Amino acid sequence: MERKKILEVKDLSISFKTSAGEVNVIRGMNLSLYKGETVAIVGESGSGKSVTVKAIMGILSNNGKINSGSIEYTYNNGTKEVTEDILKLKKSEIRKRINGKRIAMVFQDPMTSLNPTMSVGAQIMEGMIYHYKTPKKEAYEKAVNLLELVGITDPEKRMKNYPHQLSGGMRQRVVIAIALACDPDLLICDEPTTALDVTIQSKILELIKDIQAKTGISVIYITHDLGVVAKVADYVAVMYAGKIVEKGTTDEIFYEPRHPYTWGLLSAMPDLNTEDDKLYTIPGSPPNLLHQVQGDSFAPRNIFALNIDYRKEPPMFQISETHYAATWLLHEKAPKIEMPAELKNRINIMLQEGK
Ligand SMILES: Nc1ncnc2c1ncn2[C@@H]1O[C@H](COP(=O)(O)OP(=O)(O)O)[C@@H](O)[C@H]1O
Ligand SMILES: [Mg+2]
Repeated sequence: MERKKILEVKDLSISFKTSAGEVNVIRGMNLSLYKGETVAIVGESGSGKSVTVKAIMGILSNNGKINSGSIEYTYNNGTKEVTEDILKLKKSEIRKRINGKRIAMVFQDPMTSLNPTMSVGAQIMEGMIYHYKTPKKEAYEKAVNLLELVGITDPEKRMKNYPHQLSGGMRQRVVIAIALACDPDLLICDEPTTALDVTIQSKILELIKDIQAKTGISVIYITHDLGVVAKVADYVAVMYAGKIVEKGTTDEIFYEPRHPYTWGLLSAMPDLNTEDDKLYTIPGSPPNLLHQVQGDSFAPRNIFALNIDYRKEPPMFQISETHYAATWLLHEKAPKIEMPAELKNRINIMLQEGK
């Protein structure tokens, strides 16, 4: 089946004005998303994951500035298929036509997206009434169905509850129900389970996968935890210092990673055979983006860095039809460097155990 592109972020650059100066937080970001597929964006905290999706939702903070790029979104406007650059729309247009209607978002902390003074039911119905003028009775029935869909038992009773009457896991389910209320075609989940405990975390992940299987919605899933990615994503984009440094299918990223930063992230991933105190961490810290980065931004933390890494930024090298990485190690004239033996070992074990 032919894949249908619904979102394309092209050469996006964003900076923030701060008291210390201008910080270049997103530095030429590229990302594509196709209908019905899940892309996970992974990377350490501060790499620019949230800022990227806030730009897509038109909710960048006021000190943010778009310096270049486009965010092309393709959707059916009721009569025909249209492609619009979200960055060219006014905030009010995004709110009316896109945000919450066609693209919906789930944040890390459910309490920040829920209104404490409004019943759960009213909050689920609100968007349908605002965007589609859905009659109240119909909106009510749909809200009950949505609560059922997200795995909340006794949905009619829960409709009357207020957020504080629900557990953390249930609140996040409600947030997901709100997000789905207008039948969006893209769901953005920004660390949706980070604030939840591990068992509830995996239930929410299952739920998101389940919903995707039922509705065919596209998902952007943001996390700093690669372990989560394996469970939800079709494709993975690894982000470092405001850029995608490697992308590929989930299998390519887990079993054939090519960027030393991805090697580091995978090595730092806990598994059942690792004792916590022996867990690897990537040495050093990300660059200060108040200053212009010379060469490859990962070079100072990369034990495999070549001389050229300190001078020139690597392009994206293509490895397969779906797999790309921005590292000079992939240049034909670069020395042949293999991933660390310990990581190779872990990957072999994962492969033997069958994913
Ligand atoms: N409004 C803002 N003003 C200044 N800096 C910001 C602002 N919002 C985010 N940043 C900075 O941008 C970088 C990327 O942030 P973010 O996208 O939130 O990272 P993450 O990948 O953890 O989601 C961080 O260094 C953060 O401090
Ligand atoms: Mg974030």
